[in-house]
Amino acid sequence: MVYDFNASIGFDRRLFHQDIEGSAAHVKMLARQGILTEDERDSILGGLAGIREEVDAGKLVIDETCEDIHSFVEAELTRRVGDVGKKLHTGRSRNDQVALDMRLYVREQVVETDQLLKELLSVILRVMEENIETYMPGFTHLQKAQPVTLAHHFGAYFEMFKRDRQRMAEIYKRMNYCPLGAGALAGTTYPLDREYTASLLGFYGPTMNSMDSVSDRDYLIEFISALSLVMMHLSRFCEEIIIWNSNEYQFVEIDDAYSTGSSIMPQKKNPDIAELVRGKTGRVYGALMALLTTMKSLPLAYNKDMQEDKEVSFDAMDTVRSCIMLFTGMLDTLKVNKERMEKSAMNGFTNATDAADYLVGKGVPFRDAHSIIGRLVLYCIEKNTSIDALSLPELKSISDKFEEDIYDAVSLKTCVGKRLTFGAPGAEAMRKVTALHRDYLADETIDLACVPGKQGGM
Ligand code: ARG
Repeated sequence: MVYDFNASIGFDRRLFHQDIEGSAAHVKMLARQGILTEDERDSILGGLAGIREEVDAGKLVIDETCEDIHSFVEAELTRRVGDVGKKLHTGRSRNDQVALDMRLYVREQVVETDQLLKELLSVILRVMEENIETYMPGFTHLQKAQPVTLAHHFGAYFEMFKRDRQRMAEIYKRMNYCPLGAGALAGTTYPLDREYTASLLGFYGPTMNSMDSVSDRDYLIEFISALSLVMMHLSRFCEEIIIWNSNEYQFVEIDDAYSTGSSIMPQKKNPDIAELVRGKTGRVYGALMALLTTMKSLPLAYNKDMQEDKEVSFDAMDTVRSCIMLFTGMLDTLKVNKERMEKSAMNGFTNATDAADYLVGKGVPFRDAHSIIGRLVLYCIEKNTSIDALSLPELKSISDKFEEDIYDAVSLKTCVGKRLTFGAPGAEAMRKVTALHRDYLADETIDLACVPGKQGGM
């Protein structure tokens, strides 16, 4: 009972590859420093490689009666290569070992998440490029406000996920220092070369305080926090797609592969995937809260509480990875109903501001123009029509400043096309932005490239 409660192999077995990789680097360093002989090094390295191969091939099962993955690897190694296996742990503690394994694992996840976000961005950009002149209502308070384009609307999400990628790069840079060699908390009396193990494992260098090294989980909290933001962004996007896919809107149609039928109502096609991604946001936020709370008030250095960092964060990482992948597929196959969007933009007085600007252009003070258009909108509502559908005499009955050129002034193409401030939906402005996005996506993720020994110093 106590043993089971204490054990972590049920979940830290996921760190198997990192544990082997970290151990191999440690052993190479021990031999280089003359702490182990070359023969000892070679038999340990051979043993570790054999264990990895057999576990990967399914020939060796990770023994879950061991307390954790570290004890499993060491016990299996010793079984294979004899007593020399026991020398692997020279100058090392499970505290710096687990700190290293977790860091290696999270570092990979940061890179993978970045790549998934990049794929998502390239789908968003394709939709943007195809819809620079797809007009739709822009909303505030979920009420039609001013006309925009689908490219512009999606462009907002491009910015969000681009920032998410920037966060990945920053987290990577901050976390990429190696805790190995910190020992239990106070370093060791063996002449370890920490620079060497750090470079073997692709870190910028060793961490600088051994107590902090074994008890720092900031990088993990930062990562889960960044993942929470990814989920927040995904959940907003999902919410909009759910609304747009509804029978009332019909702006978009989710592909059958990403929706499900109702078991009782044959007319329904439910946006389950979008809803699930939206719903899973909660468990990722939950992981963040759990980690912050676990770490709160912990005295230096290692405390067993920290073992609790794994299950929730593994779950959060798995969740976010699958959410980004599924969402990207859903977006890639989404059908856009351009006519429906355009009609909706026309019917919602989204050109009212432009009609007021038109009057201002004819010399009417803005305040007066605002109230004239207010009356005009009421008139249209009564007649169940739109500004651009009124006849010139009808328009003139409200203000004699209206002329034939009003129709062009309030057309969607004009209303949107004139909005040419950088970042606005006008086609010319939009094309500048999509071109910049293309360049951005063409760049490889140099910042994240993990080339051992190639990075800058501390
Ligand atoms: N399973 C432990 C963890 O995940 C490994 C470190 C154990 N260290 C110790 N002193 N008991 O944190």
